[in-house]
Amino acid sequence: ALASPTVAGSVEVLSAAGQLSKEVTVLFGSQTGNCQRLATSLSRKLEEQGFQVTLASMNGFKPNGLKKLENLLLLVSTHGEGEPPDNARTFHEFLYSKRAPQLENLRFSVLSLGDTSYEFFCQTGKDFDQRLSELGAERLSPRVDCDLDYDEPVAEWFASVINALNGRLNAPAIAAEVVQAAEASESQETEYSRNNPFRAEVLENLNLNGRGSDRETRHLELSLEGSNLQFEPGDSLGVYPENHPELVKAIIEAMGWNPAESVPFNKKGEEGSLLDALSYHYEITVLTKPLLEQAVQLSSSNALTELLAPGKQSELKEYIQGRDLLDLIQDFSPWQVPARIFVTILRKLPARLYSIASSYRANPDEVHFTVRAVRYEAHGRERYGVCSVHCAERVPSGSTLPIYIQQNPNFKLPTNPDVPIIMIGPGTGVAPFRSFLEEREELGAEGKTWLFYGDRHFVTDFLYQTDWQRMLKDGVLSKLDVAFSRDTDEKVYVQHRILEKSRELYEWLQQGAHVYICGDEKHMAHDVHTALITVIQQEGGLSPDEATAYLETMQQELRYQRDVY
Ligand code: 2AM
Repeated sequence: ALASPTVAGSVEVLSAAGQLSKEVTVLFGSQTGNCQRLATSLSRKLEEQGFQVTLASMNGFKPNGLKKLENLLLLVSTHGEGEPPDNARTFHEFLYSKRAPQLENLRFSVLSLGDTSYEFFCQTGKDFDQRLSELGAERLSPRVDCDLDYDEPVAEWFASVINALNGRLNAPAIAAEVVQAAEASESQETEYSRNNPFRAEVLENLNLNGRGSDRETRHLELSLEGSNLQFEPGDSLGVYPENHPELVKAIIEAMGWNPAESVPFNKKGEEGSLLDALSYHYEITVLTKPLLEQAVQLSSSNALTELLAPGKQSELKEYIQGRDLLDLIQDFSPWQVPARIFVTILRKLPARLYSIASSYRANPDEVHFTVRAVRYEAHGRERYGVCSVHCAERVPSGSTLPIYIQQNPNFKLPTNPDVPIIMIGPGTGVAPFRSFLEEREELGAEGKTWLFYGDRHFVTDFLYQTDWQRMLKDGVLSKLDVAFSRDTDEKVYVQHRILEKSRELYEWLQQGAHVYICGDEKHMAHDVHTALITVIQQEGGLSPDEATAYLETMQQELRYQRDVY
């Protein structure tokens, strides 16, 4: 994940500019690929302005080089409980360690991506910003924290850092609109993107779980015909859902609004019916602190004012958890707000990302994905995952879904098809491995493949069982180990199977195998990580620190990759 683009003629620009540096280092920390894509795009724009750009992932950058830099731009996302993405972790640790140098000669700026519905919103970006400043570096332009709908603030940050860098060189200023327009026209082979999704026809929509399962996992196959969209194994599919019609209806009724009333459905001022706006354009299932802070201006409820009072942090956090817009409306009535005002405080309905479950080479003009319907009860009402339940209940074959492809450079097969791969993906985490194996089969790859899969029950929850069995028979899949957690008195998980097979697994690692984990981050991926360290420690005769370093080196060499959520 390292590129260092340079522009012809930059040497002349450098000398013409006199003493001032036209060198800029752009570092990204990216899990799902957003920051990486934005960093690449920013680097191109800087090159157009005559800068000499070094672009790298944070882990791909040698931190000893920091002292020599003059201009540093950081783009980073935040995960889970305020944690850095995998490829930012060691750099983050380095800056907080005793080895971090003083950086008086450095100018920097941070762009952070995040989600205001999380408590530790943009924490990693805030950390970098604060730490660099503590080390003596000077802010080139202020940090910008972005919520899910990041296009506008990103364009503003781009313009502001370019202007700050140029300002020192007395170059003309550039406007955010210009940067944003350039962003939109940047797509490669296809006109379809996150901002202009393709309406893909649903070819298949099947329940993968057997009768009697307490789970419902859908396998969807979509047609990409006419879109020019393509993808590599490991990439994700962005899907724009529709809100649940019952929830939309209940909100409109509770407010006494007219569903046919015309309201804006975006910041550009485009309008449509209230029913459409709440169904397709606005998020109505998540409450965030910024949303409540705006809602309080529109409500006459003392209770809402009180909930937002300073010192009520924990009550607020607790209230927001698991509640939606209907709760807010019901709990803090009466409201006397016209719909067209109220909708302006809502966030845009974001697309959901799913790991692609098919290989484009094996199934041209199709994309498959796997989605588990999320349904649960909370605060006295049935709750539905917006996109998962939309896919499960309301998109039969013949209907369409607005989609785009999100490249994920951090989850890629080894370029050498002879390299062995170990894939760990319980539940829907198995999806990308269907893509990996289909691809290897299509390419006639020789490398060994080993899949660890787990779910609740063998009989009803063995996703893609017949695919794996056929691949085993045909030699595309060399080994399969499964852990069904609820078929026995004691729970067995994938990590238990990993520990049972520790000798052989370590042999594969020593042969250069790549290891992939996909699925639940908080519990599964964490426990699997620990199990891998145990395997390396035990079989390699290493100390815990040495085993951790072994895995870190694998990560640096892109031999240990995770697609976790
Ligand atoms: P459980 O639901 O019986 O706890 C896919 O969801 C599978 O992952 C299920 O079998 C689930 O088991 C299992 N699972 C739950 N927690 C896990 C963990 N910490 N590590 C690995 N697998 C886990």
